[in-house]
Amino acid sequence: MAQLWGGRFTKETDALVYRFNASITFDKRFYRQDIEGSKAHAKMLGKQGIITKEEASEIVQALDGILADVESGALAISEEYEDIHSFVEATLTERIGDAGKKLHTGRSRNDQVALDMRLYTRGQVQETDALLKKLLETILHGMEEHTQTVMPGFTHLQKAQPITLAHHLGAYFEMFKRDRQRLSDIYERMNYCPLGSGALAGTTFPLDRDYTADLLGFYGPTLNSMDGVSDRDYLIEFLSALATIMMHLSRFSEEIIIWNSNEYQFVEIDDAYSTGSSIMPQKKNPDIAELVRGKAGRVYGALLSLLTTMKGIPLAYNKDMQEDKELAFDAMDTAKGCIALFEGMLSTIKFKKDAMARSASRGFTNATDAADYLVGRGVPFRDAHGIIGQVVLACIEKGIAIDDLPLSELKQFSDAFEEDVYEAISMETCVNKRLTTGAPGKEAMERVIAEEKSYLESAGKIGSNGGM
Ligand code: ARG
Repeated sequence: MAQLWGGRFTKETDALVYRFNASITFDKRFYRQDIEGSKAHAKMLGKQGIITKEEASEIVQALDGILADVESGALAISEEYEDIHSFVEATLTERIGDAGKKLHTGRSRNDQVALDMRLYTRGQVQETDALLKKLLETILHGMEEHTQTVMPGFTHLQKAQPITLAHHLGAYFEMFKRDRQRLSDIYERMNYCPLGSGALAGTTFPLDRDYTADLLGFYGPTLNSMDGVSDRDYLIEFLSALATIMMHLSRFSEEIIIWNSNEYQFVEIDDAYSTGSSIMPQKKNPDIAELVRGKAGRVYGALLSLLTTMKGIPLAYNKDMQEDKELAFDAMDTAKGCIALFEGMLSTIKFKKDAMARSASRGFTNATDAADYLVGRGVPFRDAHGIIGQVVLACIEKGIAIDDLPLSELKQFSDAFEEDVYEAISMETCVNKRLTTGAPGKEAMERVIAEEKSYLESAGKIGSNGGM
């Protein structure tokens, strides 16, 4: 057992208790953040004369050495230690002796872990944002390519009105764009440094918290030391943003699964992104989309778990908070993995334009436009609605589309029909006459595409601090 405390104890910790309490198996993942935070703390202690400048630089150098050795594999993080903080401090002391023992002056593991987790999460926010940006680029590319690819738009999963694939993809563009905006908001709120909060009440040492905040790329220090050590709002916000991203990915996955079904055949998923069956040789399954859909539940679970963990915790630090890590790490890994895989699947998927167009022209998606045509010829809308309803009923009996009825038959329903009705209710006209902002008409879509293009060019990387 290797722990930082024990002076006031007369007995060894029970082995099971030690394991139950320890966090090294999962908090070792932020060894870089722990070392960066410790370096900043040591520099500040030296600058303030709390330790000597020589001691500070000895500590910083040794911490750099530890980091290099962990990264090269020369130094393994031993799980004998209680947590990553103990491992780093013990290794430091092993290497430089007494100076190492001074590092923890004016610091508690409470503000240390608050800092490490915040630094790690900040990097994850940036990485997630970069992945979303790539996904948006792929979606925009599809939008540019498919402004004239007609497909049915659905409500209640029933064919409703014709749209284009560009328009359909554009809906997801908006969702993932908002997801990026959410991440950027979270970053702005979370980018304050809890280091220097001590155990809960700050410290009597003259720490310079502005200096450490600045060294670590934060906007400034947090303003209440109790809140500094026990705030996990930023993590809840991030998990909530990840849950929303997963909800969007899951909806998109569900559509791809439907589009890939034998009945629809709107898409063909690339071989590299689909899987086969061990028994049915004909199968090509959309497993990636299904897994993304399934993993949404896992990320929601992390959010709910942390909300529940936090709700009964009195100020300030309590050990319950150690439970913020495993589920959050899993949610971060899961969401990032899903965005990347989904992007790969989408960038290689084949859209079957003919099947989409055929489907749009079957299913009376131009019924609204046929009614609007009559309105244009002076028929009141409510009457037009009734007339087209009867036309549709007749077509259903015959198994044909409205456009398949000859003019003479159309005229039996209303005298207002003329030869130009066919042009007016063609799929292309139905789509391209919809020109209000946000509608699928080609010119309307092109205006949106231009706007989103300049958005993607201007909205670069979140924050200026590297993905620590
Ligand atoms: N492993 C702990 C955590 O993740 C670090 C903080 C320990 N602080 C304490 N007072 N025991 O929360």
